[in-house]
Amino acid sequence: MQNDTYQRIFPTSRLKDQRILVGITGGIAAYKTCELIRYLVTHGAEVRCMMTASAKEFITETTIESLCNHPVYSEMFPTGEFSATHHVHLADWADVTMIVPATANMIGKIANGIADDFLSTTCLALHTPVVIAPAMNANMWQNAAVQRNVSFLKENGCLICGPEAGFLAEGYSGVGRLARTDYLIQYLYKAMHPSRDSLAGKTVTVTAGRTEEAIDPVRMLTNRSTGKMGFALAWEAFARGAMVHLVHGPGNLTAPIEVETVPIRSAEDMYQAVKSVFPKTDILISAAAIADYRPKSYAPGKLKKKDGDLSFQFERTRDVLKEMSQKKQAHQRLVGFAVETDSPEANARKKLRAKKLDLIVLNNPLTEGAAFASETNRVTIFSENDQEEIATAYKLDVAFEIFEKLAGLPAKAKGEGR
Ligand code: CTP
Repeated sequence: MQNDTYQRIFPTSRLKDQRILVGITGGIAAYKTCELIRYLVTHGAEVRCMMTASAKEFITETTIESLCNHPVYSEMFPTGEFSATHHVHLADWADVTMIVPATANMIGKIANGIADDFLSTTCLALHTPVVIAPAMNANMWQNAAVQRNVSFLKENGCLICGPEAGFLAEGYSGVGRLARTDYLIQYLYKAMHPSRDSLAGKTVTVTAGRTEEAIDPVRMLTNRSTGKMGFALAWEAFARGAMVHLVHGPGNLTAPIEVETVPIRSAEDMYQAVKSVFPKTDILISAAAIADYRPKSYAPGKLKKKDGDLSFQFERTRDVLKEMSQKKQAHQRLVGFAVETDSPEANARKKLRAKKLDLIVLNNPLTEGAAFASETNRVTIFSENDQEEIATAYKLDVAFEIFEKLAGLPAKAKGEGR
């Protein structure tokens, strides 16, 4: 059974066997690290933890050791052990490091190369990606010295996740709360990404989820899409460094961190939202299940039942992707999805051509591993001259493959649209 946090995280095969070093420093948010460590371990990562002396004032070593199934590192010179270079060995061991929570003090030490305890000394020796998740009082966060240190770390390749606004331990609200676990994992995914920042400077627009077409104030026409595939694509685009617009229909998924989300309801809302961001979009991926029809008329009051059958007239909605394909500039890439249960390949290729797409992602919701609300998908990706079947995979892993395919497309000649 998954808890609420886990439901907000897109699973990925990428965590399996990753060596993740977690540094815990002294703040009230230290207890939240437990959930993070548990998630990493249950998804196949190997986790080692470092704690400062202050961290142990908030959470016990035993708790952390039980969760990661390994002794905690905290002493520079533990008695009875050979320890001369164990900080370097640990830094060499890590594929990626997360400092969660990171106090103002520890941020200051890392930014200024100060090594006066095990955790800060190990940080000096790190040579693989580092995610830092600050958590502190709002006024401490705003302090010029802290901001300067954070900017320095960012400029030098550290990924800074959060902090968030909300209720603080001091009893008032402000920016300083530790980022949520799903945000931490979104950042971790970015830190581990082999093509991190490959789309820096590009804008990606993703459509996700279902639309709802109102019949009367209490009834509507909709479908079973949850938006998971589209939200996973937004995570992927974020990891690749793009500016991301996520236009999504109603659902239970929570907005990813640092992604511009535009909630919509109807197909017409979707059209208007996509139209407004399309001119600045480099890649449009239309994963939304947008209604093809809507009721021809809307009843402003609730429809009362009558004897006999009831029939409705429906009219076509706008085809968002097709309309964008007509406005497409030479540099823009368009990706569509095709949900097909009959003659899938022929229909997918037909849509690829009709909507002037660079790629179309075909899936059949009736096949195993590809159902609407599922964590996995099973797709075939078509381009003009190629097709590749992707075995059942987590939606985030499918999103990775879609962006890899896009990256592998031949560059367009100047002025060439399609
Ligand atoms: N799409 C869209 N606007 C619509 C309907 C669909 O932009 N009003 C997009 C979907 O997001 C998807 C692709 O178009 O990327 C699907 O193509 P489409 O031919 O519309 O598929 P279906 O809606 O499944 O149509 P059909 O009933 O013809 O299979």
